[in-house]
Amino acid sequence: MNPALIGSPSQPVTLSDAKLSAKDLSFYYGTFQALYNISLSIAPHKITAFIGPSGCGKSTFLRTMNRMNEILRNTRVEGELTLDGQDLLAMDVTTVRRRVGMVFQKSNPFPKSIFDNVAYGLRVNGMHKRSVVEEAVERSLTHAALWTEVKDKLNKPATALSGGQQQRLCIARALAVEPEVLLLDEPCSALDPIATLKIEELLFEIKSLTTIVIVTHNMQQAARLADYTGFFFMGKLVEFDDTRVMFQNPHKKETEDYITGRFG
Ligand SMILES: Nc1ncnc2c1ncn2[C@@H]1O[C@H](COP(=O)(O)OP(=O)(O)O)[C@@H](O)[C@H]1O
Ligand SMILES: [Mg+2]
Repeated sequence: MNPALIGSPSQPVTLSDAKLSAKDLSFYYGTFQALYNISLSIAPHKITAFIGPSGCGKSTFLRTMNRMNEILRNTRVEGELTLDGQDLLAMDVTTVRRRVGMVFQKSNPFPKSIFDNVAYGLRVNGMHKRSVVEEAVERSLTHAALWTEVKDKLNKPATALSGGQQQRLCIARALAVEPEVLLLDEPCSALDPIATLKIEELLFEIKSLTTIVIVTHNMQQAARLADYTGFFFMGKLVEFDDTRVMFQNPHKKETEDYITGRFG
């Protein structure tokens, strides 16, 4: 167990090289409080998984980390959130979204070609030099384990790809702008086991490029993939630790009940 990584509200996080760090972070949809005093640190170049029953605030916390919740009116964040020690909540939002990429549960390729989907973020950020864009598209598709499958049909519509390929395309699109953190919200929940395994393998590979935070309802996935796992319950982070500790020797009864299938 690494005490520096315990994120229980009573225990301040001291991981000094944290990529992302939340301190007493609370979130409200109107008068409804969805997150209660979350404190935790995300280690760089590791995979951190969040598990917990539906409605416990996993997606809300993930969206707060790249300020996606701001699109919604009448929401409020309290507490601190830092990216490399800088105040993420005060940062220019475009910069946050470039540095912290996101992939959603339902793959959402644009109704454009495969190439244009991956090139999208680069062009939005002002990169139009063909050779540079081409190189980035190939690199991103390679990292997303999709290049060999699509290299001969880059101009075909993205929507013609299979579900698993579309999700890998969304990962390639997110990687193209070289985010420092990649957030994934149940990215495999609509996929079959083979497509899921491909995504897990590629996430494992791209740890060297970026820091990964994944929400999953699949506990085996968290156990296979994650270095660290956090268990959310009713808007609170109940326990956060080394994945092996979480699954083999959890410290909180709620965690144990959840991972042994007694509820959720
Ligand atoms: N846009 C929203 N407006 C109001 N309440 C929301 C909204 N999104 C989520 N919630 C509520 O916040 C709580 C946490 O939801 P969510 O973060 O989606 O949980 P999870 O991802 O763990 O299933 C739930 O009670 C949910 O109903
Ligand atoms: Mg969710």
